[in-house]
Amino acid sequence: MQKLEIKGGRKISGTIKISGSKNATLPILAATILTDKEILITNVPIVKDVETMVDLLRSMGSDVILNKKKKIIRIINKKRLKTFAPYHLLKTMRAGVLVLGSLLTRYNNAKVSLPGGCAIGSRPIDVHLSALKKMGAKIKIKDGYIIASSKKNLKGSLIRFPKISVGATENLLLASCFAKGKTKLRNCASEPEVKDLVVFLKKLGSNINWVGKRSINIIGVKKLRTTRHKVIFDRIEAGTYIIASALTNSTLKIKNIDPKIMSTEIDVLRKMGVTIIIKSNNLIVKPIKILKNINISTKPYPGFPTDLQAQIMVLMTKANGVSKITENIFENRFMHVSELRRMGAQIEIKGNKAVIFGNRKLNGAELMATDLRASVSLVLAALVATNKTIINRIYHLDRGYEKIEKKLSKCGAKIRRLQ
Ligand code: UD1
Repeated sequence: MQKLEIKGGRKISGTIKISGSKNATLPILAATILTDKEILITNVPIVKDVETMVDLLRSMGSDVILNKKKKIIRIINKKRLKTFAPYHLLKTMRAGVLVLGSLLTRYNNAKVSLPGGCAIGSRPIDVHLSALKKMGAKIKIKDGYIIASSKKNLKGSLIRFPKISVGATENLLLASCFAKGKTKLRNCASEPEVKDLVVFLKKLGSNINWVGKRSINIIGVKKLRTTRHKVIFDRIEAGTYIIASALTNSTLKIKNIDPKIMSTEIDVLRKMGVTIIIKSNNLIVKPIKILKNINISTKPYPGFPTDLQAQIMVLMTKANGVSKITENIFENRFMHVSELRRMGAQIEIKGNKAVIFGNRKLNGAELMATDLRASVSLVLAALVATNKTIINRIYHLDRGYEKIEKKLSKCGAKIRRLQ
């Protein structure tokens, strides 16, 4: 199993080009099931989750060409697809469940594996399923699979989500595309990745409109067309590298982003004393004079993202004073804490709250990655730790960070992959 070896304590400097967003690419790939016309997707991040989604589409019969060098995916669905999504492809990547909405609306049936548990929490899909039932789908769960069908086309409905869910909003957007009449989705997630999916679906010819900050109306259409789409940048990857720069007290240029989309994260980091200079689609992070403590709560967009919680926690271990984090999205998203403690961090956990004591010296250690964002927080901690750190189980990291060791070592970090 591959590992990362990091020798900490070095400054980094240079430019990091941010990749396309994984969380935008996955629902867009699920949306390609909706049309038999050619689709071209550019700025695709070459990460494991995207490759798994490509494998899933191929397993259904989709003709997918993935050009890893050019970061382009070309898809044509000439023939009728199989409406089956197997467990072995959904067990590592929950977003596979997004094919459910597309398959149901296009073919009126689908058999999709339940995505199962996950290290950061139970992550049910009850909100997805009850909304699809409201649109007329018959759904039963058998042998770990969701078996869904509808006699006729799904019917346009008013759906008020009981909680804000990125995945449920995306699944229902997909399901509504060919539904009869008007679907009104309320209390939707408004993450930039959901917005990118809406942009893509509109280019395809769907009749979709945001009619409020959390409200979307969709009028079903009969057919969709060909299109090309450039995936938005990965705001979580960008936030991770801003934190890497702040932590190592270095100057780093972060390229190919839209700072407006990350204003909450930028505000929080500036309050901590991080100097961030915005230059159109780039950011420059400068060395810090005094790193201040702060209290944050994770929230749905435009709040502070749960996907950046583990990374900012590492920065807090170096702040002057005590910081607090309230994790509001996932019940078990402090998996990184025990590993950070092993490095010397002083962090107390009570329920969904973490208290992080600052000014701590972190020491290199042998560590275990547990989930995607926890893994990257260990990489960040290792960059400022004394001596050498070894991170095991980095397949978690490879699910969502494109060429992380190349991007960091180009800027002077001592990081390498061990086979
Ligand atoms: C997406 C992101 C993930 C991010 C998360 C929250 C992708 C591929 N993944 O995950 O990186 O951390 O949004 O920003 O885009 N919930 C239910 N029932 C449901 C659905 C969700 O109870 O049917 C709960 C979840 O357990 C969680 C909360 O709602 O507590 C939000 O989850 P959701 O927004 O659905 O996350 P994902 O779409 O799985």
